[in-house]
Amino acid sequence: MIGVFDSGHGGLTILRALVDRLPERRFLYLGDHSHAPYGNRTPDEIHALTIENVSRLFAHGCKLVLLACNTAAAVALRRLQQDWQPATFPDHRVLGVLVPTVEAVTNVPWHIKEPPPGAPRDAATVAIFATPPTVNSGTYPHEIGTRAPAIRVVQQACPDLVAAIEMAAPEAEVRKMVAGYVAQMRAQIDGGVPDSAILGCTHYPLVAGAFTEALPQGVRILGQPEIVADSFAVYLDRHPEFAPPAPITPNVFLTTGDPALASTLGSRFFGQEIAFGVATD
Ligand code: DGL
Repeated sequence: MIGVFDSGHGGLTILRALVDRLPERRFLYLGDHSHAPYGNRTPDEIHALTIENVSRLFAHGCKLVLLACNTAAAVALRRLQQDWQPATFPDHRVLGVLVPTVEAVTNVPWHIKEPPPGAPRDAATVAIFATPPTVNSGTYPHEIGTRAPAIRVVQQACPDLVAAIEMAAPEAEVRKMVAGYVAQMRAQIDGGVPDSAILGCTHYPLVAGAFTEALPQGVRILGQPEIVADSFAVYLDRHPEFAPPAPITPNVFLTTGDPALASTLGSRFFGQEIAFGVATD
């Protein structure tokens, strides 16, 4: 099975796209609901929780894990890939959602660390809505700027949005919150209009309608779940060692929180009835 991890329900937006794109694959989804939102945590806490949960997925036999969480990917993934994972699980792999997103924004493959010759000089503005730790990590502007310095990146932290989504807050409340964040983002660019926007938190596609409504017409919202699923499919093609063993079993959903609550909300967000079980150590 392929492990898919998020702090809570957000990663289900990525899993939905993965299941649609790769119906022959089997996934084990793990939501760390008891510690969500990660957006209110320090980088060290996020790093420790990410290791704890990736370890859980490894213990369940997942040799390949996708961090379907921008916060974990932006704050913890590089460190985890450099130190902990090669030292403790050298034949396992951990990937994130940030790499394919940066590739899609810049149109430059990840392994290229400088602007390719003939790179466009026209400035385009990309707005990134994300959790405070993702914004504070500076990972998105750094990685985009390295490959495509002409792109102007405006980051907007949305501190209360994940908690509102996890609690299934009323739509009107979410709309008001999102409109406020969009206004703050536009104030950063003197009331200007970005060319495109990234919902840089896997929870946000669950309230994509509120972003579409609040952003000026014509702003293209990049679909991170689809971008990640396409890139993941290419990765799997190149790595037959992660081919599924027969027989194929159903997808599994685990939570560190309350399974009944996770199942009710999760089914709504996943667009299909799912039943979470309790994640054991
Ligand atoms: N869904 C996650 C992300 O993509 C984490 C949100 C949170 O727990 O604050 O950033």
